[in-house]
Amino acid sequence: LGASACAEDGMIKFGTNPEFPPFEYISANGVLGEYDGIDMAIAAKIGELTGMDVEMESLEFDSLLIALQNGQIDATIAGMTITDERKEAVNFSTPYYTATQVMIVPEDSDIEKAEDMADKKICVIQGYTGETCVNEMGYKYEAFKKGTEAIMELVNGKCDVVVIDSATAQNYVNDNEGLKIVEDPDAFASEEYAIAVNKDNTELLDTINEAIDTMLEDGTISEIAAQYAEA
Ligand code: ARG
Repeated sequence: LGASACAEDGMIKFGTNPEFPPFEYISANGVLGEYDGIDMAIAAKIGELTGMDVEMESLEFDSLLIALQNGQIDATIAGMTITDERKEAVNFSTPYYTATQVMIVPEDSDIEKAEDMADKKICVIQGYTGETCVNEMGYKYEAFKKGTEAIMELVNGKCDVVVIDSATAQNYVNDNEGLKIVEDPDAFASEEYAIAVNKDNTELLDTINEAIDTMLEDGTISEIAAQYAEA
């Protein structure tokens, strides 16, 4: 796999934002040093399949595409949704995971549909697709830097609903009492996560796509996702 890429450069420096369980978070015994999660296991496997060394750098989610464009990192692996806007700045790999935005609310909330958020206090995470969705719906919201900060607002009764990606929402609901997930597939389209690479680096994109295709075909990605997912 990717023999020419190996010969030329034996290392992939990934950027991530490890505040997005179960995709990336910090852990004592992570699959990649202090980094653990679905994306981190996928990155490690890409290293195995390509023979390239994998390095991980922690950045703000907002800074990932800039770091990619200025060459600080070679690729992002960060539960990042493919969007038209992002596609203008970077190239995306073959998608490896399908997700959707959901609403996290207190168990006794009367929110059943996205439109029920109209007169509620909404929290989102800065730069996430959840922010874009709520913005496009025309609702006012408050944006936080981290998912955990938005969840604290919710737990403390300072906000009524947090809009965030489904698997991460499940994690937060499991870790905090008194919260539930409300889905509204009519309002929130499905999203696809992919690795982003600098537009100039098509060789690395091809190498990564080859590895992803292999992992999609032989079930590796499903296995990894099942291993880290909470129900
Ligand atoms: N899927 C969402 C997006 O692309 C959220 C990703 C957040 N990822 C992270 N590692 N913090 O905007």
